[in-house]
This record gives sequence, structure tokens and C-alpha cells, in this order.
Amino acid sequence: MAGRLTGRTAVVTGGSTGIGQEIARRLAVEGADIAVADIDPADETRDLVAETGRRFFSDKVDVSDEDAIVGFAARVRRELGTADILVNNAAVVLPAGIDHVTFDEWRSTFAVNVDGPFLTSRAFLPDLKESGSGRVINITSASYWTPPPAFVSYVSAKGALNGFTSVLATGLAVHGITVNGVAASLVRTATASENMSESFFEQTVRMQNIKRVQMPADVSGVVAFLASDDAAFITGQIVVADGGGTRR
Ligand SMILES: NC(=O)c1ccc[n+]([C@@H]2O[C@H](COP(=O)([O-])OP(=O)(O)OC[C@H]3O[C@@H](n4cnc5c(N)ncnc54)[C@H](O)[C@@H]3O)[C@@H](O)[C@H]2O)c1
Repeated sequence: MAGRLTGRTAVVTGGSTGIGQEIARRLAVEGADIAVADIDPADETRDLVAETGRRFFSDKVDVSDEDAIVGFAARVRRELGTADILVNNAAVVLPAGIDHVTFDEWRSTFAVNVDGPFLTSRAFLPDLKESGSGRVINITSASYWTPPPAFVSYVSAKGALNGFTSVLATGLAVHGITVNGVAASLVRTATASENMSESFFEQTVRMQNIKRVQMPADVSGVVAFLASDDAAFITGQIVVADGGGTRR
């Protein structure tokens, strides 16, 4: 049986590990060919996509570097054809509050987490317009609504990404492109485990209606839905996939 995304090409930034890797795997399972842009090698993701029989392309790219991302878009077009789905997932997390964060750290968080989605969306815009059913899916965070003070640049950048999602949805609907976000709670990835204590994981679970730690697959399924024709009439939304943490 053909998958929901058969015949589509999906670009996932930050797809070498963590949530991005799981999104790449899941979109491939649904039938999409996959391109990954990451500062780290994507060999593991390549092997996971190979198991699905879909085509794969990756390059070492910093999403905050305009020339690099424009070059990447051209190479994806050459290798896999025009992109239909863009998942802006790459991000950095900086554990520092207003008393400790330096201006350089603030700006470097925004460079990856906000400039990155802007530059990548712009680089792939011609593809998404051509697609006729283009999708932009931004990976944001429920921490925007439940902000831990020790992550001032991260939470602020996710707020900017929510705004970007909203304005892009308004502007691109005329081209048949939907733009949505998926806001996750605290997801068990290596980066989250490095930056958050186990007691913070436990506290987050206590705050959720669903009493378990969120896993990358809890995010990738929502992304696959938003990428599919099933979500053709949904745009400008942030789907809060947080186990009910913001609804208690
Ligand atoms: N893990 C969580 O608890 C959690 C919760 C809510 C939202 N999120 C969001 O989910 C996304 C993925 O998070 P994760 O936990 O899997 O992170 P991660 O650190 O495991 O993965 C991020 C990936 O982005 C890549 N990357 C970093 N800077 C880059 C750059 N400049 N250019 C290209 N690639 C770059 C990294 O190499 C890595 O492969 C992020 O947007 C994050 O903010 C994560």
C-alpha cells in the first residue's frame, strides 16, 4: 500500500539525531524521500531511511549560514527533485537565565533557532510553491507557555518561531502551502538528558495529564499527519503535543 507521503520529498533540518532523526525515519516510512541538513554527519539516519527503501541525501550544513543553506537547497533539487515538505527542526538549547546569558549567547541561539527556519524556508520557497501541496512544519516548544526561567534565549526564540509560523501561514496559503508548528513537552533525547536533570523530567511528567516521558515518536507522528493530505485544511496552528502539560 502506498504511504501517505509517497512521491514527496521532505527536508528535515537537524535530522542527524534526536527528534529530527525520528521525524526523518517516520516521513520515510510514510513514503517520502528524505534530505537532511545538519552540522553533524547523518549516517545513522541514512541507514534508518535505507531500511524503508526511500532515497536519502544529506549534507553538513549550518542552517544559520545563508550561502550554505541556499547551496544545500540546490543540491537537494539535483539529487531528489523539488522539495514538498520542510521540517524546521534544528535548534540549540542554552541553559541560562537573564542574569547569566551573554548577548553573544542570546544571539547565537536566535541565529540557529530563528534565523535558521527563516533562511531555510526562504531557500526552499520556490520548491514549496511548485509542489502545489507544500508544507512547512516548525518544531517549537510547549516551554513557550510554561517557561522555565533558566532558558531565557531558548524560550524567547521559540516564541519568535511561533510568530514566524503564524505570519508565514497567512502569506503562503495563496500558493497552496500550509505552515504549522508542533510544540513538544520535554522529550527524551540525548540533548534534553544533558541539559535537564532527572528531577526536571519527573516534575514535567507530574505536570502532564499523561504520566510518562514524551518520546521522539510522539512528535514524529504529528509531523507526519501535518505533512499529509489529511491536514490539507490546517494552517497557522501550533499543535501542542505535550501530554496535556499546558492544559492543567
Ligand atoms: N528534546 C526536548 O525536550 C524538546 C522539547 C521541545 C522542543 N524540542 C525541539 O525539538 C527539536 C529537536 O530537539 P532535540 O532534543 O532532538 O535536539 P538534538 O540536539 O538532539 O538535535 C538537534 C539537531 O540539530 C542539529 N543542529 C544544531 N545546530 C545546527 C545548525 N546550526 N545547523 C544545522 N543543524 C544543527 C544538531 O547537530 C542535532 O542533530 C528542536 O527544535 C528543539 O528545540 C525539543
